[in-house]
Amino acid sequence: MIQLSYHSGITGPSMVLVTGKKYKANPSLAADKAAFLKDFIKGESKFEFLRTPEGFTFFIKGDQSAEDLRVAGSKVLSTLNAKVAELFLDGDEDAVMDVAEGIMLASYRFLKYRKDTSKDKVSLTSLFLPPSVTRKKCHELENTVKAVFWARNMVNEPVNYLNAEKLAEEISIIGAEAGITVQTLGKTQIESLKMGGLLAVNRGSMDPPTFTIMEYKPEKPVNKKPVVLIGKGVVYDTGGLSLKPTPGSMDSMKSDMAGAAAVAGAVYLAGLQKLNTHVIALVPATDNRPGMNAYTPGDIITMFDGTTVEVRNTDAEGRMILADALAYSSKFKPELVVSVATLTGAAVRAIGNKASIAMGNASDKTFQHLEKAGENCHERIVRFPFWDEYAEEMKSPIADLNNLGGGNAGMITAGKFLEHFVKDPYIHLDIAGPAWLDTRQDYKGQGGTGTGVRLLYGYLKKLK
Ligand code: BES
Ligand code: MN
Ligand code: ZN
Repeated sequence: MIQLSYHSGITGPSMVLVTGKKYKANPSLAADKAAFLKDFIKGESKFEFLRTPEGFTFFIKGDQSAEDLRVAGSKVLSTLNAKVAELFLDGDEDAVMDVAEGIMLASYRFLKYRKDTSKDKVSLTSLFLPPSVTRKKCHELENTVKAVFWARNMVNEPVNYLNAEKLAEEISIIGAEAGITVQTLGKTQIESLKMGGLLAVNRGSMDPPTFTIMEYKPEKPVNKKPVVLIGKGVVYDTGGLSLKPTPGSMDSMKSDMAGAAAVAGAVYLAGLQKLNTHVIALVPATDNRPGMNAYTPGDIITMFDGTTVEVRNTDAEGRMILADALAYSSKFKPELVVSVATLTGAAVRAIGNKASIAMGNASDKTFQHLEKAGENCHERIVRFPFWDEYAEEMKSPIADLNNLGGGNAGMITAGKFLEHFVKDPYIHLDIAGPAWLDTRQDYKGQGGTGTGVRLLYGYLKKLK
């Protein structure tokens, strides 16, 4: 018998995945629940409903896409919740795992700050999988859910808990758990390194900035040179002195560190799964506020690599902190650099929350590889153009660059700004759309989605 459990970190339910002999030992359900299940199944063509001597089983038909099955899993959970504690899945092994993934990811709740959680807690405690499902598969799903929930927790935590130092601390906790080296540079070290972009954005804040380096290095990695992932860690974005202008546009800005959560979550998962890939994550973190000494439109900032930047809008802060991390990445001589950031409203306007926008100068093969990983887990990416003409708008007459593009194609001009600081093959992911959901959407939940964790892990897993 294999019994695996996962916990959703600081909040939420725990559910047990059960496979092996115990699978057949389920006690039958009470008659009222059985009747309910029958009605539910009638309306749900994706499953066959079997009454076995042991209990109730969903038999999953294997003719649907993985995403159909994940969404169906989340529907099973929302329909059966508060009705059953145990559920059996049966059918084709891959299909079973997809449904299980949907159910488990859908079970996330952010209840840390609630006193009465009885109505919102997920009632399902055990998910029974057929004995054909391997222990390895169970472990991978368990770890995936754990890493995604961690990322969601980070995004959902408000800035009055999760400031830059707290984020660094949370990263060091998962690092210690998963065999990852974590080093955090504090303000003094960031100052001596002259990370001008990160320091500029931090100037309006009461809290010091952090720069966190995670390194997961197995003994004999498949890649000779590491992959470096860089996540935007703006723990709150007010816009700074160029205060966010539209009512409501600040409301979800605790999610402006979703890129940091994604890259740290992906490296966490790589470590938990003992992937044979050398991967590094860099997380520059600060909040962006209009404090007394805040950086100011008109300021000319000298960045970590010596580039000077004329600040035209303090709300374009993500690129300021990412630029320093991108320049810093060259010391690792990476085979690929990927930045992940809730960088622009333009990305949201272009494609909404259904995908992330990708751009860069890495090879087509690398892009295809990442696109494939995105399709597999349904964290899809759409490649946008990255022609040098877009960089024209980022020039300044009085500095090497300015931090604000023209009115159009803002996600691309931001990407071209970032590219200036990278020496190695580069992909930039603008996750501003899918990182946050105002209303619940199937297994992606409400609030922070943890987007990027499964995508980047899928990419790293397939590296050869
Ligand atoms: N964090 C925002 C981008 C954002 C907007 C993320 C909406 C998620 C939802 C970013 O720092 C920002 O303010 N971008 C500006 C850039 C502009 C001033 C060049 C934007 O997109 O408006
Ligand atoms: Mn901003
Ligand atoms: Zn921002």
